[in-house]
Amino acid sequence: MDGMGGVVAPVRYSVETRWLHWACAWLVLAQFGLGELMHRVPQALHGPVVSAHLSLGVLLAALFVMRVAWRVTGGRAIRFPARDVASGRAAGAVHVLLYLMLGAEIGLGYLARWSGGRPVTAFGAVIASPFPPMSQATHHLFGSVHGWLAWAIVILVALHVAAVLYHVRIVRDGVFGRMWGAG
Ligand code: HEM
Ligand code: HEM
Repeated sequence: MDGMGGVVAPVRYSVETRWLHWACAWLVLAQFGLGELMHRVPQALHGPVVSAHLSLGVLLAALFVMRVAWRVTGGRAIRFPARDVASGRAAGAVHVLLYLMLGAEIGLGYLARWSGGRPVTAFGAVIASPFPPMSQATHHLFGSVHGWLAWAIVILVALHVAAVLYHVRIVRDGVFGRMWGAG
């Protein structure tokens, strides 16, 4: 309320929504970079890069669970009306797809590691596999689907960023500001 009886419309998402969005966004990009790097660095660096990928991966998994819980329990109470039905549907579809693909990617990451009979490690903590090692073929399948899905996510994120740029440069309706925190 504005103190004069009128309701003041929110100008940005809540601090929790914004923090979860940006923490997940940076982690996803870092994970992609580390994943692409792990097979390209000298042998001596392979272990540390995989280890960093696993630690950040577990952190991302925890944040992702919090983010989805926050989203479905109505935590993201501040909502903004879409410009029109079509763009609202398009944005909604991309966002749902991003959530689904991220969830699948995280699950596949754990499977890619555990299926090879190795634990997932995070900042020194060891998360043992809940099942025995699988065949080499299955282990490789999880690894390659994880690798391909990473590219699909990056392409979808590029589309998401293109939509944001369109709003910033052409529509100029403050869509970026409400997630960034300014405006
Ligand atoms: C890996 C990177 C990213 C992922 C996975 C991601 C995912 C998402 C998702 C799922 C939403 C919908 C939130 C919801 O309604 O629950 C969202 C909203 C948003 N994202 Fe991202 N995002 C990423 C990167 C970025 C980047 C780089 C930008 C800016 C250039 C950005 C700007 C925004 C904005 C402005 C919104 C709010 C849209 C609105 O108010 O309708 N995101 N993002
Ligand atoms: C959005 C999050 C993630 C992205 C974008 C991502 C990306 C990647 C990429 C690009 C690779 C290289 C694949 C290749 O070409 O060989 C990789 C490998 C790997 N990632 Fe992830 N990753 C993510 C999350 C995770 C998580 C949460 C875990 C487990 C906790 C994980 C575990 C692994 C493992 C074990 C490998 C090695 C697979 C192999 O080569 O057999 N990743 N990741």
